Amino acid sequence: MRLNRTPAAPTKTCVVVLTADAGFEQMVRTTFSASPQIDLRIISATVAGAGEKIDVNGATVVVIDLDARRDDEMAAMQRLMARTGGWPPVVVITQTFDAEVARTLLQMRVADFLVKPVSAVELVRTCARVAHPVASETTEAEIYTFLAAVGGAGVTTLAIQTALLLLSSGPRGRSSTCLVDLNFQHGACADYLDLEPRLDISEIEPSPDRLDRQLLEVMTSYHASGLAVIAAPNRPAEMRSFDPDVVTRLLDLVSTHFDYVVIDMPRTWFSWTDSVLLGSNRLFIVSEMTVPGIKHAKQIVEAIRERMTEGPSPQVIVNRFEQRLFSTGLTKKDIENALSKDFVAVVPNFYRLVREAIDRGVPLEEVKRGNKITRELKKLIAPAPAKDAAPKPQPEAKKLSLSLAR
Ligand SMILES: Nc1ncnc2c1ncn2[C@@H]1O[C@H](COP(=O)(O)OP(=O)(O)O)[C@@H](O)[C@H]1O
Ligand SMILES: [Mg+2]
Repeated sequence: MRLNRTPAAPTKTCVVVLTADAGFEQMVRTTFSASPQIDLRIISATVAGAGEKIDVNGATVVVIDLDARRDDEMAAMQRLMARTGGWPPVVVITQTFDAEVARTLLQMRVADFLVKPVSAVELVRTCARVAHPVASETTEAEIYTFLAAVGGAGVTTLAIQTALLLLSSGPRGRSSTCLVDLNFQHGACADYLDLEPRLDISEIEPSPDRLDRQLLEVMTSYHASGLAVIAAPNRPAEMRSFDPDVVTRLLDLVSTHFDYVVIDMPRTWFSWTDSVLLGSNRLFIVSEMTVPGIKHAKQIVEAIRERMTEGPSPQVIVNRFEQRLFSTGLTKKDIENALSKDFVAVVPNFYRLVREAIDRGVPLEEVKRGNKITRELKKLIAPAPAKDAAPKPQPEAKKLSLSLAR
């Protein structure tokens, strides 16, 4: 399906395995070497022998085959965990189950442990599960929603880049983040990230209550960065609307399992649109630097204000911004004047960079570190200063209580 994709080397998953057990090593080789996307690094040693020298740089997950009965092994394990600080995640394999050892490992913040004999399926599943960050249990997701003022303004591009930034934010440099593409008919998120969309709405629709954590996991695709993506395969010729309950249930569930949720909204207003906007914490209207673009942005902002008395204030982003070249073009000042308090940022026009990121299915940061687009978006998601333009905290809107809003 993909045309002319440049192979993207850094999107590989790197599994580092340390083991002194030849049988286990063989099983690991057979299990992982079949997938070309997995870069397997095996170290044939014990953690007491080689723990200090393990290079975890670039590793997605580290597997340690540990002899937990030996004190020097446990001490070496402790040092390894202290050095890596919990990222990348470490999975420990032990000989036997021992409650005391299990407790000690948990205190060391090992991501998970398995007891031999370990099956290939079990190992792959465990590695896949720990390899993407999980939401801190106490927090409700912070929801960032992107809506277009005009076609092709860059909603998908900005939603993806914001999601990738949020993913690498937070105290430990990782926050579980999910990008949800609500363009069920013409979604582009999965394509832009070079992922297989896995959301099957027809399976959820007959009984939205069936959608639980497990089914959600099955319908989520994971980008190599760790970003979770919920997107449906495109059905361009299908003309039907979906039961709003499906969207409600989906977002309620997603928002309880991730720290951040980023939503790519369709341009058409559906029966569930109001409730999604109402449940968001930040709402961005993406437009372009033309007179009609600014006009449409104003119209959408007004329409949203009229429909919702609660919820976040819509904020306009003017994408593909260029310094004025001719005397007729709009200036940043014109935009600020026209949009006044609803204006939040301009994002520069940088076609080559955006194009390359899309064609390779990678973040802009990976194509060009410190680029101007990422810089603007970083400012946008940084905690707002307590000034006039800062969005007020919306306690009622924090939770996606979509059912109330319908
Ligand atoms: N800041 C930008 N600079 C240059 N090109 C951009 C920028 N943002 C988006 N684009 C380009 O604009 C086109 C439309 O972007 P897309 O994100 O698909 O828009 P939408 O989701 O609003 O339809 C794409 O070709 C994309 O590469
Ligand atoms: Mg789009």
